[in-house]
Amino acid sequence: MSKDIQVAIDGPASAGKSTVAKRVAKRFKYIYCDTGAMYRAIAWLALDHHLAMDDTAAISQLAQQAEIEFKPGEEEQRVFVNGTEVTKAIRGNAVSKNVSAVAAIPAVRTEMTRQQRAIADKGGIVMDGRDIGTTVLPHAQVKIFLVASAHERARRRYEENKEKGIHTGTLAELQAAIELRDQKDSTRKVSPLVQAADAIKLDSTHLTIDQVVDQISAIITKKINN
Ligand code: CDP
Ligand code: CDP
Repeated sequence: MSKDIQVAIDGPASAGKSTVAKRVAKRFKYIYCDTGAMYRAIAWLALDHHLAMDDTAAISQLAQQAEIEFKPGEEEQRVFVNGTEVTKAIRGNAVSKNVSAVAAIPAVRTEMTRQQRAIADKGGIVMDGRDIGTTVLPHAQVKIFLVASAHERARRRYEENKEKGIHTGTLAELQAAIELRDQKDSTRKVSPLVQAADAIKLDSTHLTIDQVVDQISAIITKKINN
């Protein structure tokens, strides 16, 4: 098998997808694509345009015209939409609260999927999100469904936000918001969050980041050498 394969990492909010995806991509010198950041960028645009979240026609049009760019940053990838940097803004409460509604709009998903496949066409890729193994890259050679308990996921995100100075309320409020978002993502009509039939489930509740990275890397290496 070619050394440049496709790796899909899906799972609920704050399971550790982007953290491990980034590191795995670095290890194999693959491209890393954070699809959640793309949906967040569209939600940010909709809020910036003062659109109502049920104005699906206007939001769809924004998505179709949106130019989303990732640029390398010191610690994390920087995200730009139509030339404006939104790296920090897309992690705030307003976007987190509204992104699931935006991501449930079929035309938004069609456009994001098109852009994500264009990125994947460039070579070996690690892509994380909710529907990568089921919809965006159904032929990905490695599919991981990364989970962790809701409490652990909320705790991790709480600590992360505190470190970054992003205000998201109490730990209990954050856990409730994460669970609500998971529920919306899992029950939407188009490309819901669901484990692909051929995905490997990995529970990271009691694993360190390094352990998760090592397990996924071993799966990739085995696939490449087969
Ligand atoms: O980082 P976190 O897990 O909080 O979320 P994210 O990966 O940044 O994704 C934000 C939101 O975008 C999710 O809650 C989904 O509503 C949506 N999303 C999606 O629908 N499909 C994807 N492939 C990725 C994200
Ligand atoms: O992308 P996703 O929303 O799934 O999660 P993330 O943003 O990569 O991770 C949420 C937080 O959990 C980050 O601050 C990670 O450092 C932390 N974490 C982890 O990702 N994996 C572990 N095994 C332990 C902690």
